[in-house]
Amino acid sequence: MPNATTPANFASDNHAGVHPAVMAAIAEANIGDAPAYGADRWTRRMNDLFRHEFGAESTAYVMFNGTGANVVGLSLMLRPYEAVLCPATAHINTHECGAAERFLGVKLIPIPTEDGKLTADDILPRLSVLGFTQAAQPHVVSISQVAETGTCYTPAEIAALADAVHSRGLLLHMDGARLANAAAHLGCSLREITTDSGVDVLTFGATKNGALGAEALVVLNPSLDGSALFLRKQGMQLASKMRFVAAQWVALLTEGLWHANAAHANAMARRIVEGVAGLPEVSLHYPVESNAVFPRLPGHAIAELQRRHRFHVWDEANGVVRWVTSFETTKEEVDALIADTREVLSLG
Ligand SMILES: Cc1ncc(COP(=O)(O)O)c(C=O)c1O
Repeated sequence: MPNATTPANFASDNHAGVHPAVMAAIAEANIGDAPAYGADRWTRRMNDLFRHEFGAESTAYVMFNGTGANVVGLSLMLRPYEAVLCPATAHINTHECGAAERFLGVKLIPIPTEDGKLTADDILPRLSVLGFTQAAQPHVVSISQVAETGTCYTPAEIAALADAVHSRGLLLHMDGARLANAAAHLGCSLREITTDSGVDVLTFGATKNGALGAEALVVLNPSLDGSALFLRKQGMQLASKMRFVAAQWVALLTEGLWHANAAHANAMARRIVEGVAGLPEVSLHYPVESNAVFPRLPGHAIAELQRRHRFHVWDEANGVVRWVTSFETTKEEVDALIADTREVLSLG
């Protein structure tokens, strides 16, 4: 939790602490010994909660981190001569150090987009190489929900993409590091924007939503599930003391804590927008549809604001910065950011 000596942080929802209910759940799981490698009651409970959210045909697998969950998830769908189509901004393309390329031997094909989101029109022209033995064969389309640009796919957009993908024999992967924020923004269940929209394999993140460190691979298409247990172990993501990771998921999936945390983070981003929208010299680079705001600011304002708050520059050439809120961002922190933005723009 932040305290008076901690400067307000808008750099990442990964900078946030652990939600007290998650911390309590970890402590409650620490009751002596329990079977290892997932044969414990917390993992069983987590699996039940996941099936409740994503459907009886789905299977969840505890993972340590998002990169690992993405790599293991993609490994269920790909052979080494195949390729993944993804937006150029995709985390798997920009922030995972080539993990999929290294560990799976597959090629990532990044596609430039306006807003971080892929459509069928973006991918269909890339499929002309199907059957051409000298080209890596696109077999998976990977999208992020929320996208790295803070934008969300509606259920209809995902379903349209899934139809196009499946009609050409490809599969749809979703990186759901911020799936909770998308569901809260769209007013949808987790299932509507995943299972019901045609996603085959999902990686679902809890770490940005208040966990200490917990991610999950969720296989939504049962025909892809046969080797997940083996690939998780070989992919170095099998937790021995799994109960402590599962307990975090149980806490977040109980009584909708995941939703409350995401809705709060989104509301804080909306509060920033309301505070800075309309200020001269400030414009929003992407629509704000989650817990991230991408304002375009004059260079001098960015430099001065970075002396007072933590945040990243997203696109230096265009003066775009990224402000991210979390479950523990307070109204006071947001209001201080807004007041400082006004001040550095000489608006008092
Ligand atoms: C879109 C997206 N995917 C996945 C991840 C997970 O990354 P990590 O391997 O750091 O848990 C992140 C973390 O920032 C992310 O933003």
